[in-house]
Amino acid sequence: MSEPLVLGIESSCDETGVGIVRGTELLANAVSSSMEEHVRFGGVVPEVASRAHLEAMVPTLEQAYCDSGVHVKDVDAIAVTCGPGLTGALLVGVAAAKALALAYDKPLYGVNHLVGHVAVDQLEHGRYDERTAALLVSGGHTSLLLVDDIVTDVQLLGETIDDAAGEAFDKVARVLGLPYPGGPHIDRAAREGDPKAISFPRGLTTGRDMEKHRFDFSFSGLKSAVVRHVQHEERMGRSFAVADVAASFQDAVCDVLTAKTIDACVEHGVKRLVLGGGVAANRRLREYAEERAKKAGVELRVPPPVLCTDNGAMIAALGSEVVRRGLEPSRLDLAVDSSMPVSQVLAA
Ligand code: KG4
Ligand code: ZN
Repeated sequence: MSEPLVLGIESSCDETGVGIVRGTELLANAVSSSMEEHVRFGGVVPEVASRAHLEAMVPTLEQAYCDSGVHVKDVDAIAVTCGPGLTGALLVGVAAAKALALAYDKPLYGVNHLVGHVAVDQLEHGRYDERTAALLVSGGHTSLLLVDDIVTDVQLLGETIDDAAGEAFDKVARVLGLPYPGGPHIDRAAREGDPKAISFPRGLTTGRDMEKHRFDFSFSGLKSAVVRHVQHEERMGRSFAVADVAASFQDAVCDVLTAKTIDACVEHGVKRLVLGGGVAANRRLREYAEERAKKAGVELRVPPPVLCTDNGAMIAALGSEVVRRGLEPSRLDLAVDSSMPVSQVLAA
């Protein structure tokens, strides 16, 4: 069989994405984001995101047809994110995918968003051919995965036990008076700062915590430490140095993320690491990842930023792998699962 031509729909958070791929070849990646509508709330508001998906879905589909010259009537299958994510947001994408599958008589595959973040790298660097680790860091997730087969063998090694990494960046940015989403602003401010200026805590890295949460992450203690530092400086009548706080906070997050990830690679005999999610754009994270991966003899792969953030191409890329393996499509009464486990790549 030639490489499957698949249309992918993503709507788990604030990006409405429609992607079209043929095997590992990217044909279209249309994305509409409702980010602007969430700015005044300082975070994604689920109801607002759902409504925005409803409005953006058809125009985004049309954009993807237009960019690729491929219409849904031409594809072999439709893939859609059915979890994890915001329930109301997921429902919009799944309902759209079901409507298309019924109208054009196409098989429908409900797939896992997190695994899509891993699959997308195939569009950039080719198919996975060896055991791979993936660190997925965004506003909604912080997960460390072990991938032996992108469809049949994905394991969760660790995840955040409180805030997601991007969420921590966004919350700390707010404390520092920087706009939402805070990640890029902290990244920029940190360039002028000293990452060693303030010694912020590294969550779950010592003693008992390491025993129980070897590859898990925690950022809420760090966030509180930043708040305490800022309040202390203000009480002392001093203006705190935003650049130093940003750099020191960022260093703490990226140090822990990469140290645990590389430890996991070494422990599990992994020679390839993929990064995904919006926080993968962070300069310090990339520096640490490059330096530490190199030292451990691990190949580092980072997809381009448009493929790191949420998009439909990642869902199409994963869908295409599922189709290639000849797996049964999902049923048309497919439900969404806001906390779909990573070990479940395809919904029944
Ligand atoms: O993957 P993404 O676009 O969307 C979802 O979270 O679904 O990730 C957005 C997150 C935000 O929390 C944003 O602050 C963070 O990624 N982010 C960054 C950077 N660029 C985006 N965090 C740190 N450094 C960056 N350069
Ligand atoms: Zn995501």
